[in-house]
Amino acid sequence: MCGIFAYCTFLTEKDRKDICDILCNGLQRLEYRGYDSAGIGIDGDSDKEIILFKQVGKVAALRQLIAEAAIDTQKSFLNQCSIAHTRWATHGPPSPVNCHPVRSNPANEFTVVHNGIVTNNTELRLVLQKKGYKFESETDTEAVAVLLKYVWDSQPQQRIDFTNLVKTVLKELEGSFAFVFKSIHFPNEVVTARRGSPLLIGVKTEKKLKVDFVDVEIGGPEAEKGNVLLGPGGPGPVTSNLLVPPTVGMTRSQSRAFMSDEGIPQPIEFFIASDASAVIEHTKRVLYLEDDDIAHIADGELHIHRLRRGEGKSSVRAIETLELELAEIMKGKFDHFMQKEIYEQPDSVVNTMRGRVNFDIHKITLGGLKAYLPIIRRGRRIVFAACGTSYHSCLATRAIFEELTEIPVSVELASDFLDRKTPIFRDDVCVFVSQSGETADTILSMRYCLDRGALCVGVVNTVGSTLSRDSHCGIHINAGPEIGVASTKAYTSQYIALIMMAIQLSEDRISLTERRNQIIDGLHELPAQIRQVLHNDKSYQQLARTVLADSRSLLIMGRGFQHATCLEAALKIKEISYTHSEGILAGELKHGPLALVDENFPVIIIMTQDSLYPKVQSALAQVTARKGQPIIICNDDDDSIPKEYRTIRVPRTVDCLQGILNIIPLQLLSYHLAIMNGFDVDFPRNLAKSVTTE
Ligand code: F6R
Repeated sequence: MCGIFAYCTFLTEKDRKDICDILCNGLQRLEYRGYDSAGIGIDGDSDKEIILFKQVGKVAALRQLIAEAAIDTQKSFLNQCSIAHTRWATHGPPSPVNCHPVRSNPANEFTVVHNGIVTNNTELRLVLQKKGYKFESETDTEAVAVLLKYVWDSQPQQRIDFTNLVKTVLKELEGSFAFVFKSIHFPNEVVTARRGSPLLIGVKTEKKLKVDFVDVEIGGPEAEKGNVLLGPGGPGPVTSNLLVPPTVGMTRSQSRAFMSDEGIPQPIEFFIASDASAVIEHTKRVLYLEDDDIAHIADGELHIHRLRRGEGKSSVRAIETLELELAEIMKGKFDHFMQKEIYEQPDSVVNTMRGRVNFDIHKITLGGLKAYLPIIRRGRRIVFAACGTSYHSCLATRAIFEELTEIPVSVELASDFLDRKTPIFRDDVCVFVSQSGETADTILSMRYCLDRGALCVGVVNTVGSTLSRDSHCGIHINAGPEIGVASTKAYTSQYIALIMMAIQLSEDRISLTERRNQIIDGLHELPAQIRQVLHNDKSYQQLARTVLADSRSLLIMGRGFQHATCLEAALKIKEISYTHSEGILAGELKHGPLALVDENFPVIIIMTQDSLYPKVQSALAQVTARKGQPIIICNDDDDSIPKEYRTIRVPRTVDCLQGILNIIPLQLLSYHLAIMNGFDVDFPRNLAKSVTTE
């Protein structure tokens, strides 16, 4: 949901880079988070100039606009800080004026890129308008840019520094945000801050990094190795490189950035991003900001402050090494990220199980939960909260959780959970499932449960995300980066992670040993079975073309374990092929949806064999009696399906794992339907990958 990227270079002459190209590449990596408009703000030829380029549409259109302007991006930007943004509109439709960077006035005195929503922007706007300030956009962000200008104007001789200026403004804001600020009054500097929206800072330098932690301590392996040095104001000694004398032609402040400990000029680059995928091609060394951190970059140095001293969960920040590889966020031989991610599933499910399942002795060990197992087992209930596809993975595994743990389980849509102010107690175990780990409703639900003293477990794909850091314990699903907006491999990995959790929780129940072993054997066979399902892709494509391409609406039904598969398949179809689709419990058919069925109405029935098979057979009979056109998903060894019906055949597995094999043809069906209709599957209209606003 919107992407932030900023680039600060403190380079030497020989290391000149094309700033606009770096900014656009960064934005392109983030485009999946929002793609209705994009913009950049860079230094002009003089210190008192910021040039903005803003364009509606994808980053490619912005690139074109910049190319047409024919500015010399290499000559002017040896030592500078620039900001960039790709937008998913919340306040005001996509237009150049609503696109970020948003500015305080036509002179671009203060420019801002922003993710999230400032909820008191209307009040701020009114106050500022009364004071004579003019607004040009419909964005909530503009109130922040103009407020910066107002605070600046109100300071005697404008003596305030950039960090304190931002601090003053942030104290007035309500809502969630990640910001990067740039101003003509502070050339070659940026300030960045977060509350509720993720931000990280990538660092690239050969020299020892100088980070000045003003209100927080440093931690992590780099600190131990002495690679992160403390500056004045931090709890450690003043670094010696502050004392290196300036070289000819450089100002004193430049020399701090440019000099190595041995006195050799060294370039330093900082990359600020809302998501690691934008920095990975430059550096793997990153520092995640926490809520209410304010980071200031100037003269090749990074200073981290707190909005309010002494407040906050953690007082330690560490430089971490990303484990992400560039190839993981490239499409490779595939046409779309969604297609690539569907095809990755034989491997991604293995990665979810790697090092955790011992198939020989039928044992599952989830390291992140181990210490908490006694508390979870003693819990009076397990409450799952999630959104969209992640919610479906909770639904898909609820029954096996109940069966194996014998603990009551409820599954909540995170937004509704909050709306209802669901009662939560200290002996509840609350499990939050999220691919991104940044979904606002899910994070707010977790905070709600943390406040009430419940144990909070995160099941997350994105390492370092808010959910993974702020939960008490959890599981990383290790599916690898998911770029396609429609979630596919994260679903199957979440599904497996939750099943593993249920198995581990039940390991003290001897009576369930056989059942657990049967599921673990099923997990072992799964990757090969997924390959088998993918192998039949051509037939799914054919079905999409011949039967479903012109459908305006379709019904997907099943029972028991397959209810979640129906909901997830319907979501996939509607979000990327814009075809109305509804997933229902087959038992509900006769209570209403049957009225939709006639000879033209496509119905997908999930009829893989489990204990509910006879009941689904009767639903099929109800559909065919109304001349409905069923497409039946059944096991490849099922001989009882009449020949005249269209079928999708999948290998048979244990009942609670069957949904993993059943969803894959439906993911592919939705993919082909979207392609056939000429839709952009990786960027479905009106959607964004990570929904960081309520
Ligand atoms: C659908 C989809 C969304 C997400 C939902 C939650 O394909 O991707 O429904 O599942 O927005 O996102 P996470 O899992 O990141 O919390």
